[in-house]
Order: sequence, then structure tokens, then C-alpha cells
Amino acid sequence: MSFTIAIDGPAAAGKGTISKAVVAHFGFAHLDTGLLYRAVGKRVIDGEDALAAAQGLMAEDLEVDGLRTPAVAQAASRVAVETDVRTALVDFQRAFAARAGGAVLDGRDIGTVICPEADVKLFVTASPEVRAERRYRELSEAGHNTDFATVLADVKARDERDQGRAVAPLIPAEDAVVIDTSHMSIADAVAAAIGAVQARR
Ligand code: CDP
Repeated sequence: MSFTIAIDGPAAAGKGTISKAVVAHFGFAHLDTGLLYRAVGKRVIDGEDALAAAQGLMAEDLEVDGLRTPAVAQAASRVAVETDVRTALVDFQRAFAARAGGAVLDGRDIGTVICPEADVKLFVTASPEVRAERRYRELSEAGHNTDFATVLADVKARDERDQGRAVAPLIPAEDAVVIDTSHMSIADAVAAAIGAVQARR
């Protein structure tokens, strides 16, 4: 039987960490939908057309190195405003959501557009400063040479683009449980997410 959990929220809000913990707890499969847009963005940086890249995307493309860089994140949010690109990625995401055994999809429009019938919808957020601090730490630990002000500007630019686009803008679904992790430990945020899922099972 399928059971779909939609986890949406802005850049670096902790969706990945929460998704992985929920998946480990319930034994579900996980799709980080941001990777789809990152993979398309990377191909555009490499010279390919965005729509052709989205139409030709394969599961293996999500495994390639270098998808987690700030440049690819910006390219991802640029291709993500294109309606045709988004449309080309819908079937893959819906098929994943419908798989037997349960699925967690995290992204920006899962609860609103991709899986409006999801069994559980979470909207994970935090202040831009807290998100930028977390992303700055992640990038530094991964060996990227960057600074907090640059990361904060990147987060804010993507927030603005993701929230302001005409198609599938970043917005909490009406029936989403909002988890603001600004002042929460990882353990508390994970517990809140697992509790919300448990309440719907
Ligand atoms: O990891 P982070 O939260 O920084 O970003 P991501 O989830 O990897 O997403 C990268 C970009 O892809 C976002 O800034 C969005 O523009 C876009 N995206 C989207 O439009 N819809 C999704 N379902 C997932 C990502």
C-alpha cells in the first residue's frame, strides 16, 4: 500500500535531515526532489538546454558528484521557474510517491502540486539567518571556500525566486503541519515530524 509524506520548505530549512530521519524511522523510500532541479541546473551549466535536460533526466543523474554546490543551487532555482521543465519532472515524482511501502518526497511544491492528496504534509521552515548559518557550516565542512554573507544572500535570492514564481510557488499547503526549526534542536525537529506522521497513520 502507498503512504505519501510531503515535506516542503525553503532552502536549507532542514528538510533533508528530517526526511532521512522519518525514512529511517518508518522504513519508507526517500526522494529529494531538489536533486532533480539541481541535476537539470548542472546540465544547463554544462551547456545543455533546460527542457531537453529535464525530459532526458534519469535516476542515475541524481547520483553525480557536484550537485550540492551553491552555483548548482542557483542554476536549479533558475530552471525551476520554467513551466515546461517542471511539467517534465511531474511523472517521475508522482510514480515515486505511489510506490508500495511508503514514500517521503521533499521539495517546494510536493504538498501543493505534486501530491495534493499526500497522507501527511509538513512545511519545515526557519529564519533566513538560521538557515544560512546551517548551510554555511555544511558547505565549509564539505570544503567549499565561502563566507556567511554570501550564503545568506544566496538563500534569500532563492527564497525570493521560489516564492515569487508564477508556477508552483513555495507556499505551505493549507493542510500542512508547519514546523519552524529556528529554535529547535535536530532531535526536537525530528520528533515533531515523526509525531505528525504518527498522528496520521
Ligand atoms: O537543499 P536546498 O534546500 O538548498 O535546495 P534544494 O531542495 O536542493 O532545491 C534547489 C532548488 O530547486 C530550489 O531553490 C528550488 O528552486 C528548486 N526546487 C523546486 O522548485 N521544486 C522542488 N520540488 C524542489 C526544488
